[in-house]
Amino acid sequence: MNQHADFCINNVNIATMRSTTQAENDPYGIRENACIFIKNGLIEAIEPAKGRLRSTVETFDAKGKWLLPGLIDCHTHLVFAGNRALEFELRQEGMSYAQIAQQGGGIQSTVNATRLASYESLLNSAIGRAARLVEEGVTTIEIKSGYGLDVETELRMLQVAKDIESHLMVNIQPTYLGAHSVPNEFRDDPDAYVDFVCGRVMPQVVEQGIATSVDVFCESIAFSPIQCEKVFHTARHYSLNIKAHVEQLSDLKGACLAAKFNALSVDHIEYLSPEDVPAIAKSNTVAVLLPGAFYHLRETQLPPLTALRQHHVPLALASDLNPGSSPVASLLTIMNMGCILFGMTPAEALSGVTRNAAQALGLAQKGQISSGFDADMCLWDIQHPNELSYGINQIRPTRAWVSGRER
Ligand code: NIG
Ligand code: FE
Repeated sequence: MNQHADFCINNVNIATMRSTTQAENDPYGIRENACIFIKNGLIEAIEPAKGRLRSTVETFDAKGKWLLPGLIDCHTHLVFAGNRALEFELRQEGMSYAQIAQQGGGIQSTVNATRLASYESLLNSAIGRAARLVEEGVTTIEIKSGYGLDVETELRMLQVAKDIESHLMVNIQPTYLGAHSVPNEFRDDPDAYVDFVCGRVMPQVVEQGIATSVDVFCESIAFSPIQCEKVFHTARHYSLNIKAHVEQLSDLKGACLAAKFNALSVDHIEYLSPEDVPAIAKSNTVAVLLPGAFYHLRETQLPPLTALRQHHVPLALASDLNPGSSPVASLLTIMNMGCILFGMTPAEALSGVTRNAAQALGLAQKGQISSGFDADMCLWDIQHPNELSYGINQIRPTRAWVSGRER
């Protein structure tokens, strides 16, 4: 009996999402009728449910509800100004995402709006979007820069991202995405912009300790593999983690390149060739699938799920919340989309927003309910964890804890 714990939750069913239980043919790592002890923000122990507990430990009776790891949205761009509803209208009239970008719209139009926005207005709108995720049980959010592209606005975006933590109980993981689009002032010399990203901005990001990862957009409308490689070399020099938007619209072999640099994740990957999957499986790289962008852009090319499963590449799912390709502030909806659009199982969807999402962010202490892990957890009034993926906008957690503190 853990009489020194800060509190415990008794009579609870737990989907631990532990990696080791997979082999035992239970992808959820279920512990039924348990009692979980929390101390100093960490999960201390999981034991069978108690008939009677010592009064020294504060006890919550879960009455058979389910405790799941807090959800992790491992790929968002939720700091930005304005919206792109007009471009949505153009796309519905027949213009493509790439065409709009080539004509100076797309990412560039959000860059224009974001550069003009104050810290306060960026923070307020970002808090609103993050709150939508949080109310669904999200306890960790990765947020990318990439709508500033100049020193000042990129640093402002990253600061805004981090400062969300002072307003909502949520962990934020900021990522520097300088190589998102070539800004207008470098239009005639994209290589000079890459030099600027590596030589001017990244050193300041490092100096301010304001991001843990670096991301790129490897695509014909963005950066070539050679340019991305330069960014990866610099990121590695500064010991920053590497992530990459690759194979979203075409197959430039960006995923293989990122895997060579031991990237934490390769994201989108609809156009990843099944033959390239073994190369990705060799590194610890997670495949982050973004069905919100697939849905919103009415993409038809499916990511190579069969090959990814065959080669045991960990699969994660994320909202990609952004104004252009995925204005979707709902990770539960994304889980449903992962199942319906990509054919994932509800168990894959749940590990995609817990254990594997944690791996995609390099967070070894999150995404599982197991002793020693951070006590980021939500209580759900459900019969089985597959209900998280099952419907759209039907359920919310009844309670949530972040590092052992109730939200
Ligand atoms: O992940 N692919 C590049 N970046 C974003 C879209 C950004 C935008 O269109 O504003 C994405 O889909
Ligand atoms: Fe993205």
